[in-house]
Amino acid sequence: MATIVANEQLAAGIFRMTVAGDHRGEMGQFYMVRCDDGYRADSYPLLSRPISIHEWGKEGIVFLYRVHGRGTELLSRQMAGQHVLLEGPFGTGFPRLDVAQSSSKRIALVGGGMGVAPLLPVAQHYRHADVYLGYSGTVFAVDSFKKAVVHSEQVQVMNDARRSVLELLDTRRYDCIMACGPAGMLRALAEQCGYIDTMSEHIHNEWMSHHSLATASAWMTTEIEQTSAEQAEVHSSRMNTPSMNTSSMNIENKMSTLQRPALYVSIERRMACGLGACLTCTVRTRHGNRRTCKEGPVFRAEEVCWDELAHL
Ligand SMILES: Cc1cc2nc3c(=O)[nH]c(=O)nc-3n(C[C@H](O)[C@H](O)[C@H](O)COP(=O)(O)OP(=O)(O)OC[C@H]3O[C@@H](n4cnc5c(N)ncnc54)[C@H](O)[C@@H]3O)c2cc1C
Ligand code: FES
Repeated sequence: MATIVANEQLAAGIFRMTVAGDHRGEMGQFYMVRCDDGYRADSYPLLSRPISIHEWGKEGIVFLYRVHGRGTELLSRQMAGQHVLLEGPFGTGFPRLDVAQSSSKRIALVGGGMGVAPLLPVAQHYRHADVYLGYSGTVFAVDSFKKAVVHSEQVQVMNDARRSVLELLDTRRYDCIMACGPAGMLRALAEQCGYIDTMSEHIHNEWMSHHSLATASAWMTTEIEQTSAEQAEVHSSRMNTPSMNTSSMNIENKMSTLQRPALYVSIERRMACGLGACLTCTVRTRHGNRRTCKEGPVFRAEEVCWDELAHL
């Protein structure tokens, strides 16, 4: 049980809740949150709701949430001094390169709607990153991002229901992109980065004439080494880095990897337990079934089965 310090309304249906205590976590991880009613059998909701870590403030952990259904509506009615139940942190978040290593990388953060919520800690860590925020009517949290980065001009906003924030983004300018938002936006971003279209014959042949598989493997190894030890372990097992006898299909995948930025996407699924036990949140990936609450919510774009994600 934790005490609410503040639960401010930022805009219609958008709230920012600060909860007292030393609640830890990594950027991109989430907590399971619900109103504290003493776990009565007839109480609603029976299950907690997954909400991303938005910030660690002076007075406690901060969550940014939209009133979606009854669970979040109840949460929005809680006042300072009342209590919530918090469990977490859960999940595998965005990769954390140390500041010295990441300063030479061109990084972009892309958030759509409530997808901006988990990106604030990422902006606070990668302060040189460019930030692209997309809204369709109600704008929120932009000032927090402007304070997080080095120059406020790094933050670009698109607020137009008929247009996409991706129109502002030239993916070729970046080594790494981290994103969270609606499935349609994530899919379009993956397409823009070259993760969905097959590589053209021209690029393929061009690459073949200049590079070897050894170069590709070395590049992948460097990237893995630059992540923290824990992230490296997770991502290396996910990427299934090839050996020299890799099939030609894998060679092609590695080559096409060299043409595009590394892309990490945070995926939303309905969750019941949040800690990997119930399998409610399972998604099919290219490496088999994965639990969004445990191996995710952040996945590398090449792992995701994009056609299935678009239909969530
Ligand atoms: C990893 C993760 C992080 C999230 N972070 C945030 C955040 O920072 N801010 C925020 O506003 N929202 C976030 N969401 C979405 C949020 O969990 C849902 O909006 C919320 O659970 C809806 O609950 P409800 O009772 O209000 O709605 P209801 O529609 O009544 O919920 C019914 C059931 O559906 C589930 N559900 C409904 N919508 C979603 C959804 N989009 N994703 C997952 N489960 C859903 C609920 O958990 C619940 O079990 C996140 C979701 C995930 C998976
Ligand atoms: S929500 Fe139970 S396994 Fe993910």
